[in-house]
Amino acid sequence: MIPESFIQELLARIDIVDVVERYVPLRKAGANYSACCPFHSEKTPSFTVSPSKQFYHCFGCGAHGSAIGFLMQHAGIGFIEAVEDLASSAGLQVPQEERNAALRAKKAPLTELMALATRFYREQLKISPKAVDYLKNRGVSGEIAAKFAIGYAPDGWQNLQQVFPDYNDQALVECGLVIVNEQGRRYDRFRDRVMFPILDQRGNVIGFGGRIIGDGEPKYLNSPETPIFEKGRELYGLSQARKAIQEEDTVLVVEGYMDVVGLVQSGVENVVATLGTAATDANVQKLLKQANRVVFCFDRDSAGDRAAWRAMEVSLSHLADNKKVEILQMPGNQDPDEFIREHGKDAFVQQTRNATRLSEFLLRELVKQSNPSTAEGRAMLVHAAKPLLQKMSAPILRVQLTKEIAQRAQVSQAEVEAQCGLKPLARSRYGPAQMKQRPVPSSVEYKLLQTVLHKPEWAARLPLELIDREGVEGEALSAIADAIEHGELPSGGFGILLEFFRDTPHEALIAAIAANMVEEVDLGALEEVFNDSVAHLRQTALSAEIKQLYARAKELSPQERQRLADLLAKKHPTPPSTSGGSI
Ligand code: UTP
Ligand code: MN
Repeated sequence: MIPESFIQELLARIDIVDVVERYVPLRKAGANYSACCPFHSEKTPSFTVSPSKQFYHCFGCGAHGSAIGFLMQHAGIGFIEAVEDLASSAGLQVPQEERNAALRAKKAPLTELMALATRFYREQLKISPKAVDYLKNRGVSGEIAAKFAIGYAPDGWQNLQQVFPDYNDQALVECGLVIVNEQGRRYDRFRDRVMFPILDQRGNVIGFGGRIIGDGEPKYLNSPETPIFEKGRELYGLSQARKAIQEEDTVLVVEGYMDVVGLVQSGVENVVATLGTAATDANVQKLLKQANRVVFCFDRDSAGDRAAWRAMEVSLSHLADNKKVEILQMPGNQDPDEFIREHGKDAFVQQTRNATRLSEFLLRELVKQSNPSTAEGRAMLVHAAKPLLQKMSAPILRVQLTKEIAQRAQVSQAEVEAQCGLKPLARSRYGPAQMKQRPVPSSVEYKLLQTVLHKPEWAARLPLELIDREGVEGEALSAIADAIEHGELPSGGFGILLEFFRDTPHEALIAAIAANMVEEVDLGALEEVFNDSVAHLRQTALSAEIKQLYARAKELSPQERQRLADLLAKKHPTPPSTSGGSI
């Protein structure tokens, strides 16, 4: 784990404006900078970067966050990678806390071993006419083979000994290159196969897919899950496709290594593949970060149809209203690689243009399953739609679909909503952020939170006992006050605050409030709002207590009578008291 204090130091050291400017040209606009948003396509700039708050926000698509968040979103990389990237550009060393230091130390050599193996396999390809012919026959040029670092693992049991003199090194087993059998004999996992290295987002080789030359079983042999390789999270070709994906604002997702290589060979470069598994949540989340449009391409067979349905289901839970997911079922019995080789790039691109929108696919499949020409069929339609509608995270799209299903089932929209137990989704622009309850912008706690986000040190002046902790705002306020009290809360803008609350229940609310306040504010006016809100809290508490005492007016003890008198005096001070003491 990276220590929290380092994150704070890092964010204090760098400037978000520099970080964003590495990728997006910024123009000064008042105290802030603006640009066309890199996360959705637009013609007029609604993307704002605030140097004083160290925070970015797009008014168009709702993207927002700190410098770390920007890098994660823009490069589609993880938190740790983003921190490491920023640290190295700031000349800082990322310190590691104990437990994971061991894990890290373990990881680094594993990727080094993979890099050495990749180099070896590539050299072997050059001297293997058989493998070169195989690739040539499949239409793969030397240039594309180099782009994907394709190699060849020669036939034989211990060829890797040439690269790793210590062939007994346990790390070779751990990264999946070497297998130990029951007799304790060690041998290379990949033998006589064309090797497709799988890269992580930083370009490290973390696994391989090895294809048999010609026919045989298994057709592809893959690296096992290792400390550096988790199949369900990775996408083949992403590292090579990133630029094209950004340019097209579309990512095509295919099923096989050779589909990626074949499409790129034909000039379609914004393409990645899942690794022999159905699309996972992690895949879809990563994909939706890369582009606003994701097109899944599936073969038209029963496995492909199942995979398409599965991709639809997974996408429903991660979709936002500004994102599009589409499904392309390849015509004929061809996979994308075969199709593009036979029909060419333009025909393939035309296919992707005609891909089926997720909602249309969902409706079509439901109607196919349930036959709504009968009453039973219409009931079945609503029944089958229920789990799908419940999964949906894009509020407006859900309403649209609900309407269409209602229409086909010949019931009202409200009936579908009731039958499916659909709770209203916050119409927030912040995607499927999981807030427990909706924030109430008119509440005192919300206003206090707004002010405290600007001036965290004010939180020390909050009358915490009077704050309603039932609400999300109250909880977040208490968390901030708590952090202040323990001297943990950093100052230096929303960016830093947001990172402090990353992965806590308060993150979504704090981000949402911060996003609405990127414009510069007058601190004097802000302090007035803070003071008024605190005064309001005290008045409300006072009134509540007075009301309680009044309700029992006849049975008050002498002390309680005195208390009531004091409270009334406080509430309606007779002589206009000396100013300044209102809080
Ligand atoms: P396909 O069987 O569709 O193969 O598997 P393909 O991609 O068209 O391969 P070529 O064109 O014959 O070379 C799709 C993906 O499923 C995984 C691989 O990731 C493959 O790319 N797979 C398939 C395996 O992992 N093992 C196998 O034995 C077969
Ligand atoms: Mn194929």
